[in-house]
Amino acid sequence: MEKFEKNMKAIVLHGGHGTRLRPLTHTGPKQLLPIANKPMSQYCIESIKETGINEIAIIVGGTGSSKVREYYGSGEKFGVSFTYIEQDKPKGIAHAIRLCKEFVNNEKFLVFLGDNIVQRSIADFTSNFKKSEFDATILLCEVDNPSRFGIAAIENNKITKILEKPKDPPSNLAVTGIYFLTPIIFDVIDNLKPSGRNELEITDALDILLEKNHNISFEMITDYWKDTGTPEDILNANRQVLEHICNQTCIVDESSITLSNSNWITPSIIGKNCKIDKSARIGPNASIGDNTIISSDVVIENSIIMSDCKIHGGLNIRDSIISANCHLHGNNKDKTKKIFLLGEGTKITL
Ligand code: DAU
Repeated sequence: MEKFEKNMKAIVLHGGHGTRLRPLTHTGPKQLLPIANKPMSQYCIESIKETGINEIAIIVGGTGSSKVREYYGSGEKFGVSFTYIEQDKPKGIAHAIRLCKEFVNNEKFLVFLGDNIVQRSIADFTSNFKKSEFDATILLCEVDNPSRFGIAAIENNKITKILEKPKDPPSNLAVTGIYFLTPIIFDVIDNLKPSGRNELEITDALDILLEKNHNISFEMITDYWKDTGTPEDILNANRQVLEHICNQTCIVDESSITLSNSNWITPSIIGKNCKIDKSARIGPNASIGDNTIISSDVVIENSIIMSDCKIHGGLNIRDSIISANCHLHGNNKDKTKKIFLLGEGTKITL
C-alpha cells in the first residue's frame, strides 16, 4: 500500500471560461464575483483555512489571472500561503490538478473548485481523510438536475461508477467540487483521454481509480451546497449566505449608515461608503457593494449590486446582478419590475 505524508495541501481552481455567466465574466473571473459582498472563492479559502491547511495552490488562467493574483496576493492577509500556477487553457479540472504535482509533492491533498459554495465546515471531512487509508474521498450531494453534474452510482454503500453529466443518470447524487485526493491520481491523469467536451475530466480519473480497485469513499453533504454556474445559482447562493450571516438584521457598514436611514429589509448587506436615499427600499436578499449610490424611490430586491454603481430614477430592480461601475437612470414613472444582468461599466437610461 502506498504511503503518503499526513500533512495536507490544497488547490483552489480559478481557471475556466465562465461563459455561462457572461456578461458578468467579460472583465474578470467568475470565482471573484461577490456573494454577500465577498468573492465567492474567498468562502473556499476560508473553509480550507479552517481545516488547518495553510499551503494553497491557486490555479489561474486567461484574463482573470492578474485579478486573482492582485486580490489574494501572497496569502498573508488571509493567514495562508498562496502559490500561483498558470493553466494556459481550460483543458479540464484533471488537467489543472496535474499541474500541481510538484506543489503537492508526496502529500494527500484537497481540491476545491472556486465556484462551489458550502455552508458547513469541511474540517471533519478533512480529518477523516487524513486518518484514512482511502485513495480518494468525494463529497456527494442530492440534486434535482443530475444531468448537469458528475454523478456517482452507489451500491451497498459503495461507489460503483462515476460519470460526468450523464444523459441517463444512475442516481441523483452529484459529485461536488470538493475532492480529497492522494498523488495516485497523477498517474491516472497522465493516461487520461479528453472527454466529449475536450477536457480532462476529474470524474473520468476517479472512475479509472475505481476500475483499478482503488478505494474511493464518499461522504454526504446534507445541507447547503451550490455550484454557481448560472446567474440564478449566484442569486440563490447570495440569499443563502445572507440568511446565514445576517441573523435577522441587515449588515450595514458604519461608513454607510450615517448617510441614510433608508428602508432596509433583512437579510441584506450594504458595503462601505454607500449613499442610499431614505426613500429607497433595499432587500430582502440584497447585497450592495462599496461606494454605490442609490437615490430616491429605488427598490432593490433579491439582487447583487456591485461596487461604484449609481442607480437613480425610481427603478424597481428584482432578481438582478449588476456589475461594478454601472450607471442606471429610470424615468421615475415606470415602476414595473426590471431584471438586469449587466457587465462592468454598463450605462442605461430608460
Ligand atoms: O461543481 C461540481 C461540478 O463541477 C461536478 O459535479 C462536475 O463533475 C465537474 O466536472 C464540474 O462541472 P462543471 O461543468 O460545473 O465545471 P466547470 O467547467 O464549471 O469548472 C469548474 C471549476 O473549475 C470552475 O471554477 C472553473 C475551474 N476550471 C475549470 C476547467 C475546465 C479550471 O480552473 N480549469 C479548467 O480547465
